[in-house]
Amino acid sequence: MFGYDIYAFGRMIRDSVRTDAYAEALRRSVRTNSVVLDMGTGVGIWALLACQFGARKVYAVDPNDAIQIAREIAAANGYADRIEFVQELTTRVTLPEPADVIVTDMHGIVPMFEQSLPAIIDARRRLLAPGGKMIPEKDTLWAAPVQAPESYDNVVLPWANDPYGFEWGPALRIAANDWFKIKDKITPVEFFGEPKCWATLDYRTLESPNVAGELSWTATRDGIGHGLAVWFDTLLVDGVAFSNAPGCPETIFGQAFFPWSEPVSISKGDTISAVLRCDLVGNYHLWRWQTTVSDPRQAGKLKADFKQSTFFGMPLSSSLNKRAPDHVPRLNQDGEIRQFVLSLMNGGNSLETIITQTTIQFANCFGSSSDAGSVVAELLEKYTEPPDRPGGNDTSERNPTFLSIDSPG
Ligand SMILES: C[S@@+](CC[C@H](N)C(=O)[O-])C[C@H]1O[C@@H](n2cnc3c(N)ncnc32)[C@H](O)[C@@H]1O
Repeated sequence: MFGYDIYAFGRMIRDSVRTDAYAEALRRSVRTNSVVLDMGTGVGIWALLACQFGARKVYAVDPNDAIQIAREIAAANGYADRIEFVQELTTRVTLPEPADVIVTDMHGIVPMFEQSLPAIIDARRRLLAPGGKMIPEKDTLWAAPVQAPESYDNVVLPWANDPYGFEWGPALRIAANDWFKIKDKITPVEFFGEPKCWATLDYRTLESPNVAGELSWTATRDGIGHGLAVWFDTLLVDGVAFSNAPGCPETIFGQAFFPWSEPVSISKGDTISAVLRCDLVGNYHLWRWQTTVSDPRQAGKLKADFKQSTFFGMPLSSSLNKRAPDHVPRLNQDGEIRQFVLSLMNGGNSLETIITQTTIQFANCFGSSSDAGSVVAELLEKYTEPPDRPGGNDTSERNPTFLSIDSPG
């Protein structure tokens, strides 16, 4: 999570379809005196634009370390006094005043990405002023059955053709039960029917992170079908939108491809039906896609009947067994190390003590204290409060090299 690096942020800003649209939406929404929440600020692009359009105050929140760079960029542009950076998840933040505008781009290839939907719902409920604006306002999810040989060949076919004469069923099961970013340059020519909307996420009213829809097409042409292409359109504010639809100017998001269990020979007039579901289970998006292809000229004779799910696409049987209600969990060694470290982070031990004690306690795991230091650093970032000292929120004042030095002994 939060694995974006400076290159990823750069690529996002360079995507002018996306960034121009957001800039225009902010220009139309921000007033002099507006308070803006930039949720997932990254290097601060929306915060800077909000200031440029007159915002009185911007709260720019992101757990990513890039926020340190964002701080410097804000200062370099003369906005340091108007942008308050908070290195945290918005779900853990309370603002001193409600936001008139909440702006965020936490989309992945689809809008259901990591904890984006629960976080947006939470921000709207707790941090938005009555009558305030959500940017984006709405995402619309689309799907179309497609011919996508390159995507299909890349992922599914390597296992389907019995390479070297071996039986690759288990690998095929996993490959055919996962979705990924489409590789082909899909255009509407590859569709077997008009794109159809299968869900709308209206962020002004959204209450659930689970998304589902049912679709049906009458095939408009003959060909080999490989799966469903899925994408979204974003309405940022009234009159400002962009789309990732095949055939539109390319955006960084692309489209998702949900492969079918096997390619299907489709004839014009066939009925293609699909049910798509995405449920957030803990931190995991459980996707299910069911497809039937039938021939109405032969009394609806089934040509294909696929029930696919990322549930079957994970080599995770032991993980799934772990989730059985009668399972009695016991910590593994990694868990014991982390439990030990966290128990020492009780406000009574210095970092040096914690690292030394961890190295001694788990001498069989750690060759040196710098190995233990990296585990301590991970937990320190995630689970501890900022240091309570003058200027303590400015992490640049801390000694960042401490965790990599060997402690005495
Ligand atoms: C796609 S980047 C967007 C960066 C920048 N705003 C832009 O649009 O170019 C999404 C960012 O959201 C952050 N993020 C994810 N969930 C968040 C949350 N609940 N609160 C704050 N930031 C979050 C991630 O760390 C990541 O930096």
